[in-house]
Amino acid sequence: MNLVVVGAQWGDEGKGKMVDYFSENAEFVVRFSGGANAGHTIKVDDKTFALHLIPAGIISPGKTVILGNGMVIDPASMFEELAGLSAQGIEWEGRVVVSDRAHLVLPGYKSEDRSIDEHRARPIGTTGRGIGVAYGKKAFRDGIRVADLWDPVIWNALSPSDREWLEPYKDRLGIMKVNLAAYMMANQGKHMLFEGAQGALLDVDHGTYPYVSSGISTASGAAVGAALGPRKIHKCLGVFKAYQTRVGNGPFPTEMSRGDDVNLADTLRELGHEYGVTTGRPRRIGYLDLVALKYAGWVNSLDGFILSHMNLYDGFESLGVCTEYEIDGERIDHFPSNIAELERVKPVIQTFAGWEGKVADARSWDEIPVGAQKFVEFIEKFTGVPVHGYSVGPLRDETFMKEDPWTQS
Ligand code: IMP
Repeated sequence: MNLVVVGAQWGDEGKGKMVDYFSENAEFVVRFSGGANAGHTIKVDDKTFALHLIPAGIISPGKTVILGNGMVIDPASMFEELAGLSAQGIEWEGRVVVSDRAHLVLPGYKSEDRSIDEHRARPIGTTGRGIGVAYGKKAFRDGIRVADLWDPVIWNALSPSDREWLEPYKDRLGIMKVNLAAYMMANQGKHMLFEGAQGALLDVDHGTYPYVSSGISTASGAAVGAALGPRKIHKCLGVFKAYQTRVGNGPFPTEMSRGDDVNLADTLRELGHEYGVTTGRPRRIGYLDLVALKYAGWVNSLDGFILSHMNLYDGFESLGVCTEYEIDGERIDHFPSNIAELERVKPVIQTFAGWEGKVADARSWDEIPVGAQKFVEFIEKFTGVPVHGYSVGPLRDETFMKEDPWTQS
């Protein structure tokens, strides 16, 4: 079975932790998009793993992880990350597979990425990892893929400094590379977990363009970016937080940016450690946006949600969620495509009473405080997507499912 897990907001929803949790029952864990701009944090016992390129399944012993053709890979970052994993006791040799159609990020791309952003009239706030440049070159048919390292014509057309930089990685990539379409066919029928990067609202097609990343962050990307056909995706789950965060620039309709909201944002940022894993930047904080979440359900054809961070609201007297947008005095219930409109949105916030008891202590649906259950039921009704699972803390055992992820809907 092929199970896809994506972010249903602007990234940083806790996908990495869920992928680590689901990996237990998967044989393969596949990244299909993005590059070292992503940041997935996984806590196991007293160890914290910060991953950028390597799929989170690497933490589970014996699982094979795949970097798909939809990714853009900086080999220096990748081998540095692998060396870091070795230092933390993770044995990864023989378990990392790279599509030979994946594009490479060369050293000059990072400064080009930053320079392009600095010269934009309205900078996006890129992580500066060369991701946009690599995808740009890919679309412009001027990129370099893993397979191309062994093509003498393409190799010789590279600059001497790029050749010198790439040379030490060739042999190491050579033993990891596969023709992914054939590899996937050979392994069909096994449990494969597809790990999304970023989130629906950062998707290059469906996100808040141009304030997006350059890859496909929605579930369809698993088919394109991992050499599968669309009919081979069996289930799609989307992770979201009980509030909303965004790193970098761009519209954020429910941002807590005025009056008392600023204090609330500061509280949630500290409680949730909302600082970027890749850049360390403080994340912008907002109310849970159900208009955007419903949209994320549509563009990902979600079978279910995983709700994370609801425990942060334990002990709060009340909490707010956005149920409608007001633009120029008119109420709308859909997510606009136009950036200027999104920037003018005044969120309509519905307030819920807090709850007695702690979501943090729950390990099953029945143990979730009644007030929090009502909150969840409201979200399910509003979005039309059931919540299949919960992450109530950073640790592996602070996770539980209401529905078995490996059963087809
Ligand atoms: P880039 O992909 O590094 O160029 O970044 C483009 C935008 O996406 C910026 O606003 C980044 O902050 C945001 N972004 C990229 N990757 C992530 C992620 O993994 N989590 C959250 N935001 C991200």
